[in-house]
Amino acid sequence: MTRVLVTGAASGLGEALVRAWRERGDEVLATDVTYAVTRSRGGGAASSSTGGMRLDITSDDDWAAALAWVEEHWGGLDVLVNNAGVAGGGRIDVAGLDEWQWIVDVNLLGVVRGCRAFTPMLKRQRSGRIVNVASLAGLVHPAGMASYNAVKAGVVALTETLGHELAAYGVTTHVVCPSYFRTNLLSSLRGADQALGAIVTQLVETSPFTADQIAAAILAGVEEGDEVILPDPMARAAYELKLRDRPAYDTQLRRQAARLHELGGDPLG
Ligand SMILES: NC(=O)c1ccc[n+]([C@@H]2O[C@H](COP(=O)([O-])OP(=O)(O)OC[C@H]3O[C@@H](n4cnc5c(N)ncnc54)[C@H](O)[C@@H]3O)[C@@H](O)[C@H]2O)c1
Repeated sequence: MTRVLVTGAASGLGEALVRAWRERGDEVLATDVTYAVTRSRGGGAASSSTGGMRLDITSDDDWAAALAWVEEHWGGLDVLVNNAGVAGGGRIDVAGLDEWQWIVDVNLLGVVRGCRAFTPMLKRQRSGRIVNVASLAGLVHPAGMASYNAVKAGVVALTETLGHELAAYGVTTHVVCPSYFRTNLLSSLRGADQALGAIVTQLVETSPFTADQIAAAILAGVEEGDEVILPDPMARAAYELKLRDRPAYDTQLRRQAARLHELGGDPLG
């Protein structure tokens, strides 16, 4: 039986991943910042009646408690899924540095913290998988989304780096790069750039893809050993276009940038 830890499990893709792994009969530790804190007698965080363990991915203490729980109850881990994340973005002269710092801390350093917490265990046991949920935005970079693009590209780079670093220890890494799919992600959306917010909202709300479809493709990709998982046809087409026809890709993204300027105006007036 596979032992899996999922972050951001209270909603959207995390919830769908927990369901998909449990349906296969695997053991899953569901974690989220919104779950209530409970502590076991040994001091480690325990599963709560709300459905999982509280784990804020920006907290070193929470990661230490999750590691302690896994050691105490399972004695090891097969799959670490760094899924939790938030939505942000905004044109470079509209979004504030506070927005950058927030999204770097959650979407990039949250994943770094998870990898740092569990890598010693995975190295010792000489097996395991790290599944990091980035985004298509980590591979193709639409205008108006510099902070989100940059942190997701960071997750892509981190995951590839660890793939090389940990291969000798029998640990494999997978980075997931979906296009838009329908979840509660917009509830976390922050930022001063309202035009960007309107575009992203429309893209998420009208997406043809559900979290369950993306989760199924992720499990299949992990099973196949895919290092980069593009779990939906829109993500595959967009990345293919960038690789195969850069001028057409640039034309498409400049068109999208023009739409953003039309909607949002120029901050210089
Ligand atoms: N929905 C999309 O269109 C889309 C596209 C590409 C990538 N993604 C990525 O998929 C992942 C999951 O997002 P989702 O769409 O399911 O959104 P969601 O908002 O439905 O779920 C995200 C979960 O993460 C949790 N979370 C937020 N901050 C946290 C923190 N500091 N510590 C622990 N948990 C935290 C939230 O409470 C929530 O339960 C994110 O990394 C997101 O960037 C989403």
